Amino acid sequence: MSDIPYIDEAEGLEAPRPQFGGRELPAGATAKTLFSYNAWDNVQWNTEQEELARLRVSSNSNITFSKEEISNFEDSANIFWDEFYNIHNNRFFKDRHWLFTEFPELAPDYTEAPQRVYPNDLSADNKEDALISLRKMEALNLIENPSVKVIKNEKRTIFEIGCGVGNTVYPILEYSKDPRLFIYCCDFSSTAISILKENKAYDQDRCHAFVLDATADDWNLPFDEESVDILILIFVLSAINPTKMTHVIAKAYKTLKKGGLLIFRDYGRYDLAQLRIKPGRCLAENFYARRDGTRVYFFTQEEITELFTSAGFTEEQNIMDRRLQVNRGKQLTMYRVWIQAKYRKI
Ligand SMILES: C[S@@+](CC[C@H](N)C(=O)[O-])C[C@H]1O[C@@H](n2cnc3c(N)ncnc32)[C@H](O)[C@@H]1O
Repeated sequence: MSDIPYIDEAEGLEAPRPQFGGRELPAGATAKTLFSYNAWDNVQWNTEQEELARLRVSSNSNITFSKEEISNFEDSANIFWDEFYNIHNNRFFKDRHWLFTEFPELAPDYTEAPQRVYPNDLSADNKEDALISLRKMEALNLIENPSVKVIKNEKRTIFEIGCGVGNTVYPILEYSKDPRLFIYCCDFSSTAISILKENKAYDQDRCHAFVLDATADDWNLPFDEESVDILILIFVLSAINPTKMTHVIAKAYKTLKKGGLLIFRDYGRYDLAQLRIKPGRCLAENFYARRDGTRVYFFTQEEITELFTSAGFTEEQNIMDRRLQVNRGKQLTMYRVWIQAKYRKI
């Protein structure tokens, strides 16, 4: 497609995979050790590598686009993504199989229909089992009022913004056994939504996909405000103009119910994808247009904290995932940087 490679986040990873952070490259590792796995976690960058990355970014950060060109990328953003999906259909992004190791909240091991539990009334015989279910339900935020301990027997809603062709939605539908689960998902590319709905696994009883531009002033949603249990932002905020991110997060915040969780994963500053961008594609600091017109921003952890906490969220996780991906066939190494975070609406 373009001369700027569009590097998929999951490129080079095997699935299913262990949780990030588990496989560390031993100090002084030989090339044989290095190429013995596909990826290494928590890779430390030395100052020289950090400086090289900084220089690389400063060399691709001059803005040479005219104001009209920059406005066109903004005004036609959904058209560029439509074209992207017209070309790649559902073949580009890989299913996010790491979802359940990183975000177990998305498909908890929950196979039975929920029941009402009154812990104070439990008999000695069933107390242990019932307390285990109670812990599970607490983890799922099923308990409306912990002092009363009444379990809500209602649908559990996930809402994904920027769902693309369903690489997150379908693994959740496939993996989750929760009969109360319902997934809403949206994207501003009508082509992506059409492709998502053409998938044989699209089940209207468990999922509803719709077109929505998250930067719009008004969101026309097929569900009530404050009704969502889990909100997903995976590799979508980076595709949005940084000046509009605050607005998107404020609108997203309103959809979540109290106690609801937002899960986030996206590009980090100095990721390989940023270092590979050639000069002449910069739109604003750390924000670029690829040759195909789709745009990408590269975040720091501090920016993510600021964006979400200033919208009212409480931070539960914010980690920098620095991985060294290895192409064993070509004996290549690729340094990837992603940010993974969880925010709670208290
Ligand atoms: C990098 S793709 C990621 C897709 C999907 N989340 C995944 O991980 O496979 C970014 C997605 O965000 C969507 N997107 C970008 N800006 C958007 C906006 N303002 N409103 C809704 N969706 C948007 C694009 O159409 C695209 O499908």
